[in-house]
Amino acid sequence: MPELAAVENLSANTEHPEAILEKALDLHEVSILYSGNPAINKVSCHFLRNKITSIIGPSGCGKSTLLRSLNRMNDFISGVTLEGKIMFSSEDLYGAEVDPVEVRRRIGMVFQKPNPFPKSIYNNIAWGPGINGHEGSKDELVERSLKQAALWDEVKDRLHDSALNLSGGQQQRLCIARALAMEPEILLMDEPCSALDPISTAHIEDLMFDLKSRYTIVIVTHNMQQASRISDYTAFMELGHLIEFGETEQVFTKPLVKRTEEYVTGRFG
Ligand SMILES: Nc1ncnc2c1ncn2[C@@H]1O[C@H](COP(=O)(O)OP(=O)(O)OP(=O)(O)O)[C@@H](O)[C@H]1O
Ligand SMILES: [Mg+2]
Repeated sequence: MPELAAVENLSANTEHPEAILEKALDLHEVSILYSGNPAINKVSCHFLRNKITSIIGPSGCGKSTLLRSLNRMNDFISGVTLEGKIMFSSEDLYGAEVDPVEVRRRIGMVFQKPNPFPKSIYNNIAWGPGINGHEGSKDELVERSLKQAALWDEVKDRLHDSALNLSGGQQQRLCIARALAMEPEILLMDEPCSALDPISTAHIEDLMFDLKSRYTIVIVTHNMQQASRISDYTAFMELGHLIEFGETEQVFTKPLVKRTEEYVTGRFG
């Protein structure tokens, strides 16, 4: 990676002089290895509170691996090791005193392939908050979450049908609603729109804009238009390295690294 040195200056790119922007997650030289083979190499970057950050890059470059490390989902894969440090506000995300279950409640995740529980639409939403001691009205929570995910109108008359009978796009919005019902602080989304039609995709993008005031969002996407439309910051990765990281407009219109320019203009990938 001859141009990797450029990365050293990049963290300054997201520092806004006139505002104090809080880092929801701050990565210091994070490497992730599968059975000793590195998939992520010394990545340092941060995800700012109430902002949307896109992670882009060619297939296999490590986007999902990095995203999963942000809420300790990689813990479920045997042979994974993580080096470096990820700070979640002032806590070390991998510190011995940290409860990974609590981490996943506070940092929710939506996967590329929708994975509804084999339960009713209603219970897909209500179950998680229920076991976490949610005290308010379940009906209200279900309605609010489904509305936030732009699914309510389509399912309000069949809330007790199986979620598995929904279309793929509807299942994905249900999974987003399910994640939101847990009221996480950070929402991680791994190609959440890849199974959606353009109208559902537009709904989800509008939703992300609305959610920004309360959540920090990190989204992996292969859709360059989507990244440039919705995100405040963009991280471009290749072969496990962070090549460029900065404000989205800068990354897309004035990239510092030639490889970024080639990727965002579709010349490879
Ligand atoms: N469970 C695993 N065990 C071993 N290697 C893995 C595992 N998951 C991913 N990898 C490897 O890590 C590298 C990064 O994979 P990852 O899935 O993070 O890429 P990605 O950027 O999300 O790709 P895509 O855009 O295709 O989803 C790849 O070389 C992949 O083969
Ligand atoms: Mg992936």
